[in-house]
Order: sequence, then structure tokens, then C-alpha cells
Amino acid sequence: MQKRENFGGRLAVIMAMAGSAIGLGNIWRFPYLVGQNGGAAFVLVYIAACALLALPIFMAEAVIGRRSGSNTFGAMQKLAPGTRWKWLGLVTVGAPLLLLSYYSVVGGWAVDYFMKACSFRFMGDTSGIFGRFIASTWEPLITHTVFMALTAGIILLGVTKGIEKFTKITMPMLFVLIVGIVIYGLTLPGAWKGVEYMVKPDFSKIDARVVATAMGQAFFSLSLGVGTILTYASYMRKEENIVSSGNYTALFDLLFALLAGFAVMPAVFAAGIQPEEGAGLVFDTLPYIFSRMGWAGAVVSILFFFSILIAALTSSISLLEVGVAYLVEEKGWNRRRSTLVLALGTWVLGVLCSLSSVIFDLFDQLCSNWLMPFGGILFTLFVGWKMSKADVRNELTNGGTRNRRIFPLVYFLIRYLAPVGIVVVFLSNLLS
Ligand code: PFF
Repeated sequence: MQKRENFGGRLAVIMAMAGSAIGLGNIWRFPYLVGQNGGAAFVLVYIAACALLALPIFMAEAVIGRRSGSNTFGAMQKLAPGTRWKWLGLVTVGAPLLLLSYYSVVGGWAVDYFMKACSFRFMGDTSGIFGRFIASTWEPLITHTVFMALTAGIILLGVTKGIEKFTKITMPMLFVLIVGIVIYGLTLPGAWKGVEYMVKPDFSKIDARVVATAMGQAFFSLSLGVGTILTYASYMRKEENIVSSGNYTALFDLLFALLAGFAVMPAVFAAGIQPEEGAGLVFDTLPYIFSRMGWAGAVVSILFFFSILIAALTSSISLLEVGVAYLVEEKGWNRRRSTLVLALGTWVLGVLCSLSSVIFDLFDQLCSNWLMPFGGILFTLFVGWKMSKADVRNELTNGGTRNRRIFPLVYFLIRYLAPVGIVVVFLSNLLS
């Protein structure tokens, strides 16, 4: 078996986890869900779902990962040998690959837009630009292939060389660019309607379905329930602080989602696009902003789609890493073979998603509405009820040296509130 690598330090851990969390979920998915589900009211429910349901799952996964120092399957074998929990380990090897298959298709859209930006395609009329792209068969297929190849390439370089170096440079750049776009977007005529849409809640819009969607998005955005955080936490050193890593990751993730919302919504109203438009929303509105900016728009669009691409890659590599860690550690395959086999299999699934929006939607629904909440519940139950409280306390308080006061609250959230909350949201959505 190969020697396990570890993340180098505190910043590296947070950057890698935030890199996994911040991605297309924030920039592509969050804004269109806000648009479809009533604006500010959705944002509020989303924030609550992050704090009360998603964060406890994050901590639970991280506890399992670091305690075991293993991939998802190995973790269950180590912490609960000979039990049915091994199935959780196995399911969470498969789930991220399913998610990656359609994630890579959207990653491909980002590849395409980056190339469009490089050839100054956003300088003229941009209306209907996404519709035309998606209507062609070959372009999305080719860009999906490129995206998957990039993902596999980075994973081949390994944890420290590939993932760590990558995330440290690009996240701050993305942040600066989005802030710039938000500021510019606000100067467009009609833009303030979008701001209003983001901040004035209409609570009559909230029903069980909206709450369930917000919950699914919180899990999607924080990369939960499919073993990604577990796997990354297994590369965390003992002295690292799980609670604060979780808090920082969630905070940065929320910040990026809100920024993306404030970048997109004003432009939606300024350009007369429908907020309910759905999956293509970002890919229609941002070109509109860029087209208004003249040469500055040309430059910003190149940098922006480059950063989105990197943000997407730092998420997609975390999805692929789950399966690779499993094959390397449990099956004794080498990293190269594991990566190539998994990337190829996932690419094939992605081709189906690229060709059929029905399959695409099916996979997306399956992952965020079923697999992620399901995995999330089981991870919290595992930590709350299967592991000994002493072990959990040890991980969350670094052997009693940190987070001592907050531990009872975190433990309560993991043991009771998160699993019960997810089930309630789940059932009320099903029943309504
Ligand atoms: N959190 C990523 C995003 O918001 O784009 C997507 C994701 C990555 C989901 C890794 C799940 C995961 F395990």
C-alpha cells in the first residue's frame, strides 16, 4: 500500500475543503435556485439549513475521516468492523461519481465560456447565447470531455502537489473578481430590482418543497453526504481544528453563494431575463454584464471564467478523490489506474447527461434530494450513536484543549437535531 499523504497545514486544509465546497454549486446552482424559489425567502431558509443541518454533518464526516485516517469504506471497517455500516462506506464511494458525471457536464459549460471569453465572444449581442450552445450536440460533449480530463490530470498529481497548490492561489482571485462584478452590476439600469429580490423576503413563498430544496442545496454546496469531506478530513493532521475548519468553510461558501447571487440577480432584472429561467441563468446573465463593459468586460470575462473553471475543478477533484482513495487503499490499485478507470466510467455517465436533460435532471435530483440527505443522516447517526462520545469529544476538542464550551452544542446538533431535522424536511416534502 502506498504511504498516505497529509495536507500541509491549517490554511491548506481550509483551502482544500473550501475549494471542494465552493464551486458550480455556488455560482451556477445557487443563483438559479434563488430565482426559482422566491428570492430572499429562499436565501434565509438556505442560511438556516446550512447552520442547523449542514454544519453538523460536516463535523460528523470530518470526525469519521480524521479518526479513521481512511477512505469512506476503510473508515467504516476501522471504526465499526464487521457491521452493516460498511454499506455506507460503499454507497459513498459510488455517489460522488454519479454526482461528478453531471457536474462535469456543467464544468464543460464553464470550459466553453472560458474559450468564448478568450475569443471575445461576449463583446457583441449575447442574447440567447446559452440556448444556442446547449442546442448543439458536439460542443457540450467535447467540453465535458475536456473538463473530465483536467479533473483526472490533477488527481494524478496527488494530494499535496495537485490539490493543495491549486486551491491556494485561485480562490482569492475568484473572490476579488466576483466582488468587482457585483459592484459593476449594481450600476446597470434596473439593477436595484435584483437587489430587492435578494433582500426582501416574501414568506408566502416558503413551503415544504422550498425548504427541501434549500436543504439539498446546502448539502450540495458544502459537499456533504457523499464522503468528500470525510476523505479530505482523513488527510488532516491531528492538531488541526475540525470545528473551526467547518465554520470557516461554511462561511466562505456562504459568502461566495451570496456574492454570486448579487452578481447575477441585478443583471437578471437589468437584462429583462426571467429569474425562474433555471439551469442556464448564470450562463445567460453574466455574458450580458460583460457585453456592457466594453474592453474591460473582455478582460474580466476571461479572468472570471478562468476562475470559475478552477473553482469547479477544485470541487470535481474532491469528488473523484473519494473513489480513488478507496481503490488505492482497499483494492491496492495504483493511483494512476484508479484515476483513469474511474474518470472513464464517470465520463460515460456524463455523456448520457450531456445528451439528455432528463437524465441530467434525474441524476441531479437523485444526488441532492436523496443521496446527500441520506448519507448526511447516516454520518450523523454514526458519530452520534455508534462512535463513543469520548472519541467524538477527543476529535472535536483536540483532546480537550479546544472548543470545550461549544462541544455539547455541536454534539447535540449531530446526535439529535440534524438527523431529526433532515427526516422532518424529507417527510414533509414527500407528503405535501
Ligand atoms: N460543493 C460543490 C459545489 O458547490 O460546486 C459540489 C460538490 C463537490 C458536491 C463535492 C459534493 C461533493 F462531494
